[in-house]
Amino acid sequence: MPTSQPLALIKRPRRLRRSAAVRDLIQETRVELTDFIQPVFVKDGDGEPEPVTSMPGVFRFSRANVVEECNTLHDLGIRAVALFPVVRTELKDPTGSVSITESNHLFSVVRAIKRSRPDLIVVTDVALDPYTDHGHDGILNEDGTDVDNDPTVSRLSELAIAQAEAGAEWVAPSDMMDGRVGAIRAALDQRGYSHVAILAYSAKFASAYYGPFRDAVGSQMAAGKNYLSKKSYQLNPANAREAIHDALLDEAEGADMLMVKPGGPYLDILSRLRELTDLPLAAYQVSGEYAQVHAAAKMGWLDYWATRDESLIALKRAGADLILTYFAKEIARERAGLTNAPNTA
Ligand code: PBG
Repeated sequence: MPTSQPLALIKRPRRLRRSAAVRDLIQETRVELTDFIQPVFVKDGDGEPEPVTSMPGVFRFSRANVVEECNTLHDLGIRAVALFPVVRTELKDPTGSVSITESNHLFSVVRAIKRSRPDLIVVTDVALDPYTDHGHDGILNEDGTDVDNDPTVSRLSELAIAQAEAGAEWVAPSDMMDGRVGAIRAALDQRGYSHVAILAYSAKFASAYYGPFRDAVGSQMAAGKNYLSKKSYQLNPANAREAIHDALLDEAEGADMLMVKPGGPYLDILSRLRELTDLPLAAYQVSGEYAQVHAAAKMGWLDYWATRDESLIALKRAGADLILTYFAKEIARERAGLTNAPNTA
């Protein structure tokens, strides 16, 4: 038997990891229900909620049942929803012209939700991809090769005004056009919506992790092959400095909150931004991050709950104040004691 002498260590970090109680006491970050924004897909018409195949547990609600869903979320302690419209194909055109008309069901949905729950914060997406037949976030230039920045910004400003008019209290430009935050701020102020805040998708990367979302909203060429390239406006995943530069422009243009998207693969950007701004920071845990946890767990390769919770605490630790996540409702149900999750502490 080898005899081992105790090491003469003054510092033994394991002292503070000895029990669950000690670990709880020194825990630095926690994910709270009040951090969450639940993304909600809403289609036109009165049909039953439709499951999104690539996002287990996520549905496309319709006008008829989205209010009830939002009431449930609010009752569970969720403070905010981010609405994403699913637009009928026949309403789509190259410029997304339906977006700013009353045929855009989003507006009546926002009004209905606010009527039912005035305290639930409604966040609306300012981008044209749900409304364009090509699936891009803006209006294309004459030869159809690229999104034309300035005409897109003016259309987005009109969309933001219409959303504010319907009752959205946060508008969230997710398009990555240059100058859109400043233009939207000016447009809102001019029309009497100075109280409406801008949650800017500031560091939004051209990511493959959006696949299941495009599936959910039916923006053209969804997941898989022919993945629509948005590289001429969304950020290059290889570029951190460029992301910081672009995000800080949003702050300078008057954004109230900055967002990093996707969250998990871009924790470095979150943590650098945390050092560089005092604005609240949001992280969007996107559809592909959600889908991969589900898929791996289904294969029996990862523990579902532990992986889910670790993916969220990582966003908080890196500096996010707010988290957009498709897991929000499920976690709220667990914390309300309505469903059981194994204890992973
Ligand atoms: C587009 C938009 C996207 C998402 C939110 N808004 C997709 C895209 O840029 O193609 C993705 C969200 C997710 O994947 O969960 N304006």
